[in-house]
Amino acid sequence: MKTKWTFFAIALIMALCGCSDGGSPVYRDASAPVEKRVKDLLGRMTLEEKIMQLNQYTLGRNTVENNLGEAVRDIPAGIGSLIYFGDDAVLRNAMQKKAMEESRLGIPILFGHDVIHGYRTIFPIPLAQACSWNPDLVRRGCAAAACEAAACGVDWTFSPMVDVARDPRWGRVMEGYGEDVHTNAVFCEAAVKGYQGDDLSAENTIAACLKHYAGYGASEAGRDYVPTEISDQTLWDTYLPPFEAGVKAGAATLMSAFHNISGTPATANRYILTEVLKEKWGHDGFVVSDWDAVRQLILQGMAEDGKEAAMLAFTAGVEMDMVDDLYTKWLPELIEEGLVDMKQVDDAVSRVLRIKFRLGLFERPYAEELPESSIYLQPSSVGLAERMAVESMVLLKNEGGVLPLENVGRIALIGPLADSKEDMLGNWTARGRAGDVVSIAEGLAAEFAGKARIRVVKGCDFDGDDRSGFADAVSAAANSDVAVLCLGHKGKWSGENCSRSTIEIPSIQEELLAAVKSAGKPVVLAVSAGRPVDLHRIEPLADAIMLIWHPGIRGGNALASLLSGRENPSGKLAMTFPYSTGQIPIYYNRRNSGRRGTQGIYKDIRSTPLYEFGYGLSYTEFEYGELCLTAEDGSGRSCDMVSGENEVMKVPAGGKITAEITVKNTGGRDGYETVHWYICDPYSRITRPVRELKHFEKRMVSSGEEETFIFEIDPLRDLGFVDSAGKRYVDKGTYRIMAGGRVAELEII
Ligand code: BGC
Repeated sequence: MKTKWTFFAIALIMALCGCSDGGSPVYRDASAPVEKRVKDLLGRMTLEEKIMQLNQYTLGRNTVENNLGEAVRDIPAGIGSLIYFGDDAVLRNAMQKKAMEESRLGIPILFGHDVIHGYRTIFPIPLAQACSWNPDLVRRGCAAAACEAAACGVDWTFSPMVDVARDPRWGRVMEGYGEDVHTNAVFCEAAVKGYQGDDLSAENTIAACLKHYAGYGASEAGRDYVPTEISDQTLWDTYLPPFEAGVKAGAATLMSAFHNISGTPATANRYILTEVLKEKWGHDGFVVSDWDAVRQLILQGMAEDGKEAAMLAFTAGVEMDMVDDLYTKWLPELIEEGLVDMKQVDDAVSRVLRIKFRLGLFERPYAEELPESSIYLQPSSVGLAERMAVESMVLLKNEGGVLPLENVGRIALIGPLADSKEDMLGNWTARGRAGDVVSIAEGLAAEFAGKARIRVVKGCDFDGDDRSGFADAVSAAANSDVAVLCLGHKGKWSGENCSRSTIEIPSIQEELLAAVKSAGKPVVLAVSAGRPVDLHRIEPLADAIMLIWHPGIRGGNALASLLSGRENPSGKLAMTFPYSTGQIPIYYNRRNSGRRGTQGIYKDIRSTPLYEFGYGLSYTEFEYGELCLTAEDGSGRSCDMVSGENEVMKVPAGGKITAEITVKNTGGRDGYETVHWYICDPYSRITRPVRELKHFEKRMVSSGEEETFIFEIDPLRDLGFVDSAGKRYVDKGTYRIMAGGRVAELEII
């Protein structure tokens, strides 16, 4: 009896002082629920300690070109987060030791970094990855990147970027998944699952950050950081869905964007940051500002000074201030003056702590200091990077079946990219190194060893006017069976603050192509870029064109395997290739205009793009069979309109429909085919795009075989739309379901 009372007494004292057992506080108890730990820790913190959690500084040598010159600060032990520019875990651990041992409560620091398309093993740029139409590969690629980053001391990546982007003059199109809403949503989910895995606290997972919330891709005329004009309707039907998908997938954090949304900068946009994100979607992680963006509210003409900027960003719902240090400086005063509510401070701190607990940082604050050789460039990651490069390259032209290069003995490999390693990486390369790259010259040498002799000639630089190498290039081409010309943009010509007024390839390279063409040999182009480029003058001069984007460390091998025919191209464009810059913005899912035919189009250039969204060739041919729809209860069947079997199926809004199409490989090679399923709602009160991608699937189809592709249609999810307040609905009436040029109709009753 006595012992029972003693036990209760101790338990009562422990509960009152917030201890679990042995006097250790609840927040230190790994077995306690996260919410209990958050509450316990919050209850012990001073105001100053709380505010420090809401700040992010940098640590190490900042190599991000755009943010160079920021001094590394004398970092306080109680800082919430650091952007980590270390090469290994040593610097992190030293800093973390300071936090754990010198801060009063021993709260670990959260280390973030831009892991955009790989950490040391650099993958193709995200825009290229989207062209693989292989979300599982993207998931595995992100998991591999997380593994390397975590082992180097990174807990959190500022990725994925899911800004729908339709203006290739905007340099940041390379960082996202292209022009389409659904594509961005699907790859967003894949990336979040890849980085975060099933368990955020596992050693090899890191927290994701959806960015740039929201509508940054609407950047006017492709200029970076500038104001945007986005109606509520467009915000909801175009820019928000990928973020919503990422939040549903469990993304721990989001980053607010730099730009101004129709008068209210994203950094101070309470509607998207609080009403939508927290209240409507229920996100319980936190939002970090973009770099120095709180201060930029002054330059944007919203806040008069740093104090007002801090107040506006914080009360709008930005919980963490990236580098500009305004929260530390002003929140105490703002709270004292009643301009910032203490409840909101507690909520913000809880959000940051919640993610730290979920990451397991309190239990595992340090990263194991492993030798570089056991972290970086592991065969499995490098293999994934190569696979991704193979699947993301897009065959745009193949006249006369010049590719694959099967019986060639002499190859002239020409152009500024033929032997460049750095430019294969693209921008945002984290700890990637040019020395890790297999160049195109190296890739071809390995692939064609013993089969073809390769002569490498640069010909000219990416730009400038030095034509002194032209003669050599022409003579190499003349003495070969085929010229492979590697042209395009340099790796750092796209990315942040890399807007260009034209998407052309510099004229010196076009001249080189024309010169090489005069040698009279077949010309194969490998085009590298971080954005869609204007190929309309180049295209007629090339027999074949392979778009390789910035393909990462194994780009050389990937291209070589496609040129030799060991691999069959399967990439398809995730972003329209305009005919010329003057057509921009041009994208597949615009709305209809009131005039058709020749009305309203440019009089001086064609109005169709050079290559459409979804375009990409293969070395084999695929034949699409009839597209058939079946109602869930088997009551109706409606097939492709051209088949004549035109019974339009009637389905209640709550019913389900199965769409099926058979694809036959009628060519001589096995190949992957991606079926893109579109829907069209031809008449509705809120008018809709001409076509909307709603589902895609990629599958291997062996030569001579056929595969049946299926799209399970949920009317509200797949046929429905969203209004300007974010409410989803499905209209009654006719809908068209489309795939591979086939169309079937149904009616929602
Ligand atoms: C970029 C972000 C990036 C951040 C941190 C900013 O300039 O806009 O995308 O995550 O810097 O490097």
